[in-house]
Amino acid sequence: MPPHGEATVPLRSLSAAEWDHTYGSTNPGWDEEPPPVLGELLAEHAPPPAHVLDVGCGLGTTARWLAERSYTVTACDFSPRAITEARRRTPAGAAVRYEVLDVTGQPPPLESFPVVLDRGVLHTCPTHRERRTFAAAMARMCRPDGLWLHVGAAALDEEDALHQSNGPSWTTEETFRAAVTPWFTVLDHRISDFGRRRGVTDWAARYVVLQRREH
Ligand SMILES: C[S@@+](CC[C@H](N)C(=O)[O-])C[C@H]1O[C@@H](n2cnc3c(N)ncnc32)[C@H](O)[C@@H]1O
Repeated sequence: MPPHGEATVPLRSLSAAEWDHTYGSTNPGWDEEPPPVLGELLAEHAPPPAHVLDVGCGLGTTARWLAERSYTVTACDFSPRAITEARRRTPAGAAVRYEVLDVTGQPPPLESFPVVLDRGVLHTCPTHRERRTFAAAMARMCRPDGLWLHVGAAALDEEDALHQSNGPSWTTEETFRAAVTPWFTVLDHRISDFGRRRGVTDWAARYVVLQRREH
């Protein structure tokens, strides 16, 4: 079983206040540019200059990485502290717009986008019910026929899925599909490292391209 992140970090919290506290007190171990597989999937399914909504963008590292690759980016997070820091790190003139936003809140937030992306956000949802709520929010923000690119912790078998003592919520492919199928069709599904740092973020992650159904 790979390491499950940093023990002190509430990777399964659904509370904006707790995430805000995390960003104020910890250097987040997951904050790094995504590995090449995400760029490959994007190039194949949603080449630039597509407009991407980076949901739960944290410190904006993926948002800036996308903008550097000629995407137009809207990036949101429900932690005001994360968004303040993301804005501070973003060069003037970069094609990134930041919003403080709880994507599962009501009424439906923002407009809808051709591409929505979550890196490490659905996997903060500890139960099927919360994963469904998050998937429904992604469906509201994704245009009909639009795409959702998901990157999140992957349990490669049932036994892995049982080891849930800390870190992100490890879902099997079956569990993942059960959360998203009311709204999305899976177009591409790959397993690769979550991040680039050996022994820290190189645990198994699911890279999934999903298409929003019309109805
Ligand atoms: C593990 S971090 C990943 C951050 C970033 N995507 C990255 O790859 O570095 C999860 C992020 O999701 C945000 N988040 C969780 N639930 C959210 C919600 N309902 N609305 C907006 N942001 C949320 C948290 O504040 C946190 O920044």
